[in-house]
Order: sequence, then structure tokens, then C-alpha cells
Amino acid sequence: MTIFVTGGAGYIGSHTIVELLENGQQVVVLDNLSNSSKEALRRVEVITSKSVTFYQGDVLDPIILNKIFSEHDITSVIHFAGLKSVGESVVQPLRYYENNVTGTVVLCQAMAKANVKNLVFSSSATVYGDPASLPILESFPTDTTNPYGQSKLMVEHVLTDLAASDSSWNIAVLRYFNPVGAHASGTIGEDPNDIPNNLMPFIAQVAVGKRDKLNVFGSDYDTHDGTGVRDYIHVVDLAIGHLKALDKLATNPGLVTYNIGTGVGYSVLDMVKAFEKACGKSIAYQIVDRRPGDIAACYANPKKAKSELGWAAIHTIDDMAQSSWLWQSNNPNGYEG
Ligand code: NAD
Ligand code: UFG
Repeated sequence: MTIFVTGGAGYIGSHTIVELLENGQQVVVLDNLSNSSKEALRRVEVITSKSVTFYQGDVLDPIILNKIFSEHDITSVIHFAGLKSVGESVVQPLRYYENNVTGTVVLCQAMAKANVKNLVFSSSATVYGDPASLPILESFPTDTTNPYGQSKLMVEHVLTDLAASDSSWNIAVLRYFNPVGAHASGTIGEDPNDIPNNLMPFIAQVAVGKRDKLNVFGSDYDTHDGTGVRDYIHVVDLAIGHLKALDKLATNPGLVTYNIGTGVGYSVLDMVKAFEKACGKSIAYQIVDRRPGDIAACYANPKKAKSELGWAAIHTIDDMAQSSWLWQSNNPNGYEG
């Protein structure tokens, strides 16, 4: 089986490819390297002792897509390619809609042309907005507050209409909660381009001495310690979820949607403590104002993925912190180092 992975040089893509290769699949990657490095794929090849076929190009380009589908016997596509910064999406909404929404439409057109109709799509828990209750079920109403979230929700609508129009499409929409951690080798991991927006890479950069201190955005939320609570999921668990989703597509389910989270919420300070334990240092932090747009708490009910995919997260918060630290301490400058 050959799996076509868009955005495969990125954080979640590279970890998923390791699992695919170790499971005996062939992998073809398309990535424009706008937020990643080819070095990640080289390291994936070292980890697995297997090779990846790489095309540098854009999902917005139908010519390269048609070429890939004609040159390989592709059975399924995992579509990671997308832009993911909430703040940037507010400033550059057209770029986000073009890349994330148009990019997916162009990809699906090329898939239809090649008669490849199995797709796993990277959606996000952001589509739930500020949920009325917790834990979050897939049936909860969707409601987004920024162009990034809108782009994910728009793609979900496009894919729903596509599956309704043609029953030969099989599509798994995976709504990721908060992916963190790194491969146990410490050789691949999250490598933000700039100042990290997300909590774990920021903590890791404080621990390694690249940043002075963490700003904790708010300590007056209605949570166990007042700081924001999220459902952090180890990226290797998330990666394995994609393999389970591919198995599901083989049963012709049509369009299916799953929460990919642990079901457990941890606060910002819980994550700081876990990281301190992993790295053996204290993490300097200060409490600052809430970050606009943040919600108090968000965590999944992941039972649907367990019962229908046979998937559940197994890594603990300590595994998340230890693997992040191994990656960060071995690669203080990410792939550039
Ligand atoms: P990432 O930025 O590390 O990976 C995305 C990859 O896609 C990068 O390698 C980038 O170069 C590539 N890419 C972007 N636009 C492209 C285009 N037009 N053509 C070809 N390649 C393109 O991000 P990630 O964390 O690995 O996220 C993967 C997917 O999961 C994204 O769609 C993201 O929105 C989604 N997601 C991520 C998170 C998270 O917190 N990391 C949470 C929920 C959903
Ligand atoms: N936080 C801090 N300081 C920081 C960064 C984050 O205190 O420097 C706090 C936030 O306020 C929040 C928690 O840490 O309480 C997690 O914040 P992240 O930015 O790591 O993650 P978010 O839950 O805000 O958003 C992430 C992705 C979104 C995605 C969402 C759900 O960035 O793209 O998870 O999947 F939509």
C-alpha cells in the first residue's frame, strides 16, 4: 500500500510517517517546506531504515498532484498540509483560506481524477469553540472564532458535501486536541519557526535557555489551579490514530469524525511541573493577562475513537514532557542545529 502524505515534513506528519513505515507501508510526501525542513524526513529514514519518496511542491498545484497520482499506486491520502497559527490567520485570513480550504479542494479534485477516494483530514478541537460542557463529544455544536478555525470547519463542510455526493469516498476527519511530545529517539520533534505560540515548545525553550521565562496567560480561570486546561496528546499516540483511521476507511464507512485526545485535562501549571520533573530544572514563569480568544478548559470524550477505531492514547504526561525535553535538549536549534 502506498500512502500519500501531504505536509509530511511537518511535526505531526513526520511522526505519522515513522509509524506508517514501521507498519510496512510505502510513503510518498508532498510538502512545500513553508514550515518544515527536509532534514525531518532524512531523520525519519534513519529511525526506520526505510526510504520516503519526497516531492517539494504545493497542494495548490494540480500539476504536481496529478504527477504524483500517476507515478504511484496510491490507495489513501493523509492531508496534513496546512497553516496552523491562530494569530497569523487573523492578520492574513486570505492566505489561510487559500492554503487550507482551496488547497484541500484542489487535492480532492486530483484525488477524484485519479480515483483515489480514501482521505484522512487533520481537523482540530478548535472547531468546538468554547464548549457549553465538558468533556467534548463529536456531536457537540461547532463554532469557531478565528480564520484558522473557520478554515478547518469550512473544509469539514466541503468534505461532508463531497462524501454525500458520492458514496465511494471514505473520509476520516480527525479532530486533534493539543499535540505535544516527540519520538522516543529524540531525533524528530516540533520545531517552531519563530517564537513559539504553543505552550509545550515555549516551556521547552525556557528549559534549554533560549527564553527567559514563560508567560502564563491567566490564573483566574474556573479550573483546578486557575490556569487554562487542555487535553494534551502525545504525538506518537496521535500518529497511531492515523493508522487506525486508514484501517477504518478500508471498511467503506463514508465520512466519519473522531476526537483524538486523551480525555484528561491538564493545566498550564501541571505541564510546567511535569516538564520540571523531566528536565531536572525549574521553569521560570510569570502570570500575565489572559490571552485574547483563549478558553478556560477543553478536553475530549475520546470514546468514539476507542469503540470504532480501537484507538486510545497510552502515553502519560511524563512521557510527553520527557520526550519533548529529549528532543529539545538534543536539538536546541531544531533541525537547523
Ligand atoms: P506543521 O506546520 O509542522 O506541518 C504542516 C506541514 O504542511 C509543513 O511541513 C508545511 O511546510 C506544509 N504545508 C503547509 N502548506 C502547504 C501547502 N500549501 N503545500 C504543501 N505543503 C504545505 O504543522 P503540524 O503541527 O504538523 O500540523 C499538521 C496539521 O494538523 C495541520 O493541518 C494543522 O492545522 C493540524 N492541526 C495541528 C495542531 C497542532 O497543535 N499542531 C492541532 C490541530 C490540528
Ligand atoms: N499558554 C500559556 N503561555 C504560553 C502559551 C500558552 O499560558 O506561552 C496557555 C494557553 O493560555 C492555554 C494553554 O497554554 O491555556 C495551551 O495553549 P496552546 O497555545 O499551546 O494551545 P491552544 O489550546 O490555545 O491551541 C492549540 C493550537 C490550535 C488548536 C487547538 C486545539 O494552537 O491551533 O490547540 O487543537 F486549534
